[in-house]
Amino acid sequence: MDRNLAIELVRVSEFAALAASKHIGRGNEKAADQAAVDAMRKCLNSLTISGTVVIGEGERDEAPMLYIGEKVGQGGPNVDIALDPLEGTTITAKGGENAMAVIALAQEGGFLNAPDVYMRKISAKVENENVVSLSQDLRSNIKALAEYKKINTEDLVICVLDRERHKDDIEIIRSAGARIKIIGDGDVSAVISSVIDSSNIDMYYGIGGAPEGVLAAAALQCVGGYLEGQLIFYNDQETDRAKKTGITNLDKIYKLNDLAKGDVMFSATGVTDGTMLRGININKNFATTHSIVMRSKTGTIREIDGKHNFDIKQLDY
Ligand code: FBP
Repeated sequence: MDRNLAIELVRVSEFAALAASKHIGRGNEKAADQAAVDAMRKCLNSLTISGTVVIGEGERDEAPMLYIGEKVGQGGPNVDIALDPLEGTTITAKGGENAMAVIALAQEGGFLNAPDVYMRKISAKVENENVVSLSQDLRSNIKALAEYKKINTEDLVICVLDRERHKDDIEIIRSAGARIKIIGDGDVSAVISSVIDSSNIDMYYGIGGAPEGVLAAAALQCVGGYLEGQLIFYNDQETDRAKKTGITNLDKIYKLNDLAKGDVMFSATGVTDGTMLRGININKNFATTHSIVMRSKTGTIREIDGKHNFDIKQLDY
């Protein structure tokens, strides 16, 4: 893939984030998401790619735009696209932390065509796949990570989504002696935070969206660290959805390379302030953005501060 595409991607996440930012704290998740989707789609369609959305807003019959299978771009190299125009719709609606606009590109076949179901995930800043794994229980993972990091279990921080389904996991983490960071939403950001030095999170664990798992894997292919995921099905409709995407082994533990592989580009722009990114700051005649854009092929990571000289009320893309 042309390396300049990575820079083009920043514009795509920037505009989705700018559009969503008009809805921060307004209590309207749908409006925030719709604004981000519209902006991202418009911007994506200006790129010289022949893109196929493989991780998107949902299946064609339920998502009018950026649905799985939608073709985007003006024509050019064939690329697969994983996107979440607004990762953290509830966060945005409440004016909380860590909402961002996210997009990743890979060569065709580079992303797992994950169905829109849940996925159990484990991630940490480890250099190989033999330290943490969903093939061992949570307590063993905590012990293995503490040994690998040569620190006491008591010093580890495990990040978990605040959901009833994680009640037992939270008990296990506490009884193992580790500390916990419980977050309301946004596990793409949480997974990335578990592998970067500037955060105090040592491990992310628990069940979130499968599409978010693929997006997080795209980021980790660029930034390093390890992630595994296993699809979780709560009903027959969800297993059927997986079978429709060609998945036959429903219990499979997906390793990082199964989720995202090859030449991957990733861009995220903060909507609200977070661990990794600052949110949009709106001024009278301009707005500022903070983005991270990365490529797996070269390992290049750029942080880009944007100053957009327009009145955000007139935002046009
Ligand atoms: P949205 O922004 O799409 O609402 O996703 C937020 C999120 O917290 C993800 O980060 C996470 O993977 C997923 O929702 C968890 O799903 P649920 O809220 O159904 O438990």
